[in-house]
Amino acid sequence: MEFKVIVDARARSAAGCAVVGLYEGGELGAATRHLDAELGGMIARLHAAGDFAAKLGDTLLLAHPQGAAAQRVLLIGLGARAGFARKQYRKALQSSAQALLKTGSADAIVYLALEDVPSVESGYRARAVAEIFSAQSYKIPDLKTATKPKPPRLSSLAVAAENARSAKAMTAGVEIGAAIGSGSALARDLGNLPPNICTPTYLGERAEALAKEWPRIKTKVLDEAAIKELKMGAFLAVTRGSDQPPRLIVCEYRGGRKGSAPICLVGKGITFDSGGISLKEPPGMDEMKFDMSGAASVLGALRAAAELELPLNVVGIMPACENMPSGKATKPSDIVTTMSGQTVEILNTDAEGRLILCDAITYSRRFKPAAVVDIATLTGACIIALGNHFSGLMSNTESLAAELMAASVRADDRAWHLPVGDEYAEQLKSNFADFANVGGREGGASTAATYLSKFAKDLAWAHLDVAGTAWLGGSHKGSTGRPVPLLTEFLLQRAARAK
Ligand code: BES
Ligand code: MN
Ligand code: ZN
Repeated sequence: MEFKVIVDARARSAAGCAVVGLYEGGELGAATRHLDAELGGMIARLHAAGDFAAKLGDTLLLAHPQGAAAQRVLLIGLGARAGFARKQYRKALQSSAQALLKTGSADAIVYLALEDVPSVESGYRARAVAEIFSAQSYKIPDLKTATKPKPPRLSSLAVAAENARSAKAMTAGVEIGAAIGSGSALARDLGNLPPNICTPTYLGERAEALAKEWPRIKTKVLDEAAIKELKMGAFLAVTRGSDQPPRLIVCEYRGGRKGSAPICLVGKGITFDSGGISLKEPPGMDEMKFDMSGAASVLGALRAAAELELPLNVVGIMPACENMPSGKATKPSDIVTTMSGQTVEILNTDAEGRLILCDAITYSRRFKPAAVVDIATLTGACIIALGNHFSGLMSNTESLAAELMAASVRADDRAWHLPVGDEYAEQLKSNFADFANVGGREGGASTAATYLSKFAKDLAWAHLDVAGTAWLGGSHKGSTGRPVPLLTEFLLQRAARAK
């Protein structure tokens, strides 16, 4: 979808659809008054007659109304004026996008970014339009053979701006929203593809394609021999049972000064997690194709950084393999030596994410990173703790945790700070190796993070457990693209700081 910002909105309202807001109390939104006049007061009458209550998220389509310059008018309920804040604004946009995409409009103009939202600047208001309309128009790359339903016709969306000054900020905002949209779409595509297509090799190829498309991105894909050379004993233990060759994918985005320390994003890339010899139960095992969502979100964030030409250096590190049972597979009680030199007793082969990540975190040290953030669908325990709403955030550096928390709020891609540390290290004790890879059921998300923290000593490190947020089950089954918005916002903040 193409986005643009238009100042002379009245002249341009001759669009396929004009999207305007109305508050519950009957106050017309910023541009609604003008439209209502065109329609001879119809909007006010609809509200007065009880035909449109304007509750937050309500929509009403007026098709081909007489007098209007636009072919359609889409009324959006904004709820109570007093309570209209960032969250409500985003909700109104979500409903707008859903309703607008069902119409036959090829182009439309959205007036909602003209509304006053307390402490939300015009650039952000425009950004949210682009981000939310991108997300809502996402289509799963399905392999259904029946004739495809026609894609929505909407191809061009204008965001109305008040004046030239705000238009400038809004144009920058729209670019951010669109970049988050395409980064999220990339992550969602990869998550949604079946594991017989989206293999470690395929992930490597997509990373190479990203480098072809964006000149500031350089991709290096290491094969099994190179991984052996690096002595990544934990990573190798996970891939051992699989017939698919593993890949260590390294994607460097160079937008900052030469020599300025990069941010390393480390993404879990298990393209299928059967559990290995500690085999999972059949129900829900299909969902383990999404176990590469961490890696997918790293590619999505890198794409967004490249599109926005952010002035900073980012290195994506994605260990990718399958976790499968076989005669060659790692057995519970096997002991391996990690790249860091520390030994691990693998008591449960289903706790494989931390095994590939610990070696990838060690690998990140060669970049002398300013910060390392790993992203992983790591534990079912995190879903029990936080559900599908918040990602778990653990860190050994308070200021980094605070940055990521703030980014999660602004991006509306929420995380919640959870503990990590010595208390949980007790649970990882082993009689046979430096420590075990599992620490019992209690505090499972925190013991997993504590395991990782043993490889992040002296690094500014944070961990995002996205097991509950990277995908949804049920009728909405599929990848969400989270936490691409959070990561992109974090990079944006770092870029602003670097200036
Ligand atoms: N990929 C899973 C985590 C997961 C589980 C994500 C369910 C989404 C839904 C991870 O590799 C795993 O299997 N974790 C185990 C750890 C346990 C063996 C300590 C888990 O959470 O059960
Ligand atoms: Mn597992
Ligand atoms: Zn897993």
